[in-house]
Amino acid sequence: MAAAVVRGGTDILSSVVQGQVEIHEPYGGVVPELASRDHVRSVSAVVEAALTQASVGSNELSAIAVTAGPGLIGSLLVGLSFGKALAYRLGIPMVGVHHLSGHLASAELADASLHAPYLGLLVSGGHTALYQIEADDPPRMLGETRDDAVGEAFDKVAKLLGLGFPGGPAVSAAAQLGKADAIRFPRPMLDRGGLDFSFSGLKTAVALEVERRAGQGALTESDIADIAASFEAAAIEVLVTRARQALRENGLERLCVVGGVAANRRLRDEIAKAAAEDGFESSFPPLELCTDNAAMIAAAGAQRLARGDRHGLDLNSFSRGSGPL
Ligand code: KG4
Ligand code: ZN
Repeated sequence: MAAAVVRGGTDILSSVVQGQVEIHEPYGGVVPELASRDHVRSVSAVVEAALTQASVGSNELSAIAVTAGPGLIGSLLVGLSFGKALAYRLGIPMVGVHHLSGHLASAELADASLHAPYLGLLVSGGHTALYQIEADDPPRMLGETRDDAVGEAFDKVAKLLGLGFPGGPAVSAAAQLGKADAIRFPRPMLDRGGLDFSFSGLKTAVALEVERRAGQGALTESDIADIAASFEAAAIEVLVTRARQALRENGLERLCVVGGVAANRRLRDEIAKAAAEDGFESSFPPLELCTDNAAMIAAAGAQRLARGDRHGLDLNSFSRGSGPL
């Protein structure tokens, strides 16, 4: 659950993120029913905290932006209902935001000097996609994953290796101690054209390797580190290769990486190397803007409001795709 107060679409006055890691940790993944119940419990306090930290009274707000989807429907409904009620009580406009537009807006939120055109690489727990961003147009998707998202693959590999949840940071930390060339995992789809991704085959390859080694006795620390490092190397190589290809094919000179996996150290290092070799510019929002937060939703909402978009109380949340947005 998160709430933020943003001025003028770019100036973050407060950004409160209340995680749910302790709630879901015992289950090794997000339990939707527990997530929505926690949202009901915390929504008022989180919004209140965002206003207090910003030293802004609710009567000073000029609009409400709220995530309409995609995501877990129960949690989305809590935020949407609260946003509607607040906008109605204050008599101010409300605009629904697509979660991915929020992630893409985090690039411009982090760097006011960033101007289109650029390539957006969105890497999160639910999505892996490339977008061409042009001024005044909605983002144009160039390619996306055909199965798992890259963050989801990190989370599943963490589970296979017994590294806990959330998996991305844990796999990445274990990988630091291992050899990235210990096992040659597949680089799915790189032998094909197009800009799509696939990560489920890579995940299966990791599962088979874990099974094979476990069959020879318990996994050692060094097995875990080598598997983590080799998996990470394969996943990151796929992302970087596709991003380079998309920049080249579309004549773009700037890359922005957004979403939770943008926190990954190896991804940052490999993009920096590629940028030096190919001569493109690259930027990553700071970590607190890479992972899910409400400031990016406010920024995307401000862009929509500036385009004249408004939503009524009949707006509904949606779990997949682009819903009513
Ligand atoms: O964007 P995000 O906060 O939430 C959504 O999925 O929308 O992304 C969360 C994802 C999780 O899958 C998490 O494991 C991954 O980002 N992640 C990382 C790292 N930090 C977070 N993956 C790889 N390396 C990291 N350092
Ligand atoms: Zn996200």
